[in-house]
Amino acid sequence: MSVEPTAPALAPRLGEPLPAELLDAGERLSPAELRERQLAGLRWTLRHAYDNVELYRRKFDAAGVRPEDCRRLDDLRRFPFTTKADLRASYPFGMFAVPQAEVRRIHASSGTTGRPTVVGYTQDDLDMWADVVARSIRAAGGRPGHKVHISYGYGLFTGGLGVHYGAERAGCTVIPASGGMTARQVQIIQDFRPEIIMITPSYLLTLLDEFERQGVDPRSTSLRIGIFGAEPWTEAMRREIEGRLDIDAVDIYGLSEVIGPGVAQECVETKDGLHIWEDHFYPEVVDPLTDELLAQGESGELVFTSLTKQALPVIRYRTRDLTRLLPGTARPAFRRMEKVTGRCDDMIIIRGVNIFPTQVEEIVLRTPAVAPHFQLRITRRGRLDHLAVVVEARPGATPDQRTAAAAEIARGVKDGVGVSVEVTVVDPDTIERSVGKIRRVHDLRTG
Ligand code: DLL
Repeated sequence: MSVEPTAPALAPRLGEPLPAELLDAGERLSPAELRERQLAGLRWTLRHAYDNVELYRRKFDAAGVRPEDCRRLDDLRRFPFTTKADLRASYPFGMFAVPQAEVRRIHASSGTTGRPTVVGYTQDDLDMWADVVARSIRAAGGRPGHKVHISYGYGLFTGGLGVHYGAERAGCTVIPASGGMTARQVQIIQDFRPEIIMITPSYLLTLLDEFERQGVDPRSTSLRIGIFGAEPWTEAMRREIEGRLDIDAVDIYGLSEVIGPGVAQECVETKDGLHIWEDHFYPEVVDPLTDELLAQGESGELVFTSLTKQALPVIRYRTRDLTRLLPGTARPAFRRMEKVTGRCDDMIIIRGVNIFPTQVEEIVLRTPAVAPHFQLRITRRGRLDHLAVVVEARPGATPDQRTAAAAEIARGVKDGVGVSVEVTVVDPDTIERSVGKIRRVHDLRTG
């Protein structure tokens, strides 16, 4: 018997909403039903955490609050925050709220210093995770039958396995490429003809260079949708990527402590920030310095409380990510978060001025003679901190163009951010390439 392959329905192009029959039950909740579900989830989570995790019990007791004090969503503000330091202090499993035999999987994020942060999942947690990733893929335009090339790393990192099971749940055909072996990835994309790629934006740039090295026009590939996350990226990067590949580039956000990828997703028809899957993850934004709760529209640090998670409930978890909450658009019941501009931890302070790598990214990407590969290097000169932007020339850029580009970037940073930086334009292919999450900031200060 021969089976005719059925072509998946074409992904929606901008302006085309997801057909109602493809929305899942959570996405069909009215705002009132969603609030009701959130309150029930919140009350359950607070009780579950208090009864089963010593650290939460101690923190609630010290703050003089009990789970039953949460009668309205607004009452959440009375509960203490949780931080990465709490997870580290409970290393490895001290914040798990279920017996170990009920934990089906463990992931960990390495971080740059100290012990990794360990997270755990029950079978129900894994199911919920696959559901929110599947929902994210549909919001990005993915449909059953699409082939999804996954270049997020597989292993303890939540990226690879997290989106893998979600893509299967969405009815897609998964190509589990993982990170690395870049030349082979390019080959596989040409041979297997995936419609969707899930990858960090910085590793996609590495792949694009490899396409060009192999003499393949990236615009000629089968790829139609790119779902990019795990690191901050800008609108300028979206334009760069959509220009070099003929795709729609959308943003996926998440963090291990909350679940992994699939906490929030940008809808392809609006590309206007990420809808937070609020039936499972309740967002707040606080002032990172004063801890004060901020109103919708105000920028600050994103904080999450899980509503349905069993193995590792998180209560008011401080993400360190900076953004603001906005009303829903393509999914009206869910609030959006603006694209993350950076992490509190990535903020560089040079002579009293705050600067984020994303601000430099915008400026580098609008400078034609340089490539989108750059690093920020901090050194100390005498008693002053010094910031250098090291950026690669595009192949073929003349010495004059390179000098002009350096001056343009320095001026852009001075005018846009208010700080003087030294800009060096180096030869093509001399800056280390990313195969996963990129590290933009290199702090070379000693002592
Ligand atoms: O990076 C989960 C993930 C994998 C998300 C794949 C999306 C795609 P962690 O390793 O725990 O988990 O790192 C979480 O990465 O707090 C942000 O600082 C950053 N991050 C993740 N997604 C985005 C995004 C995964 N879309 C940390 N934009 C988060 C900006 C992001 N930053």
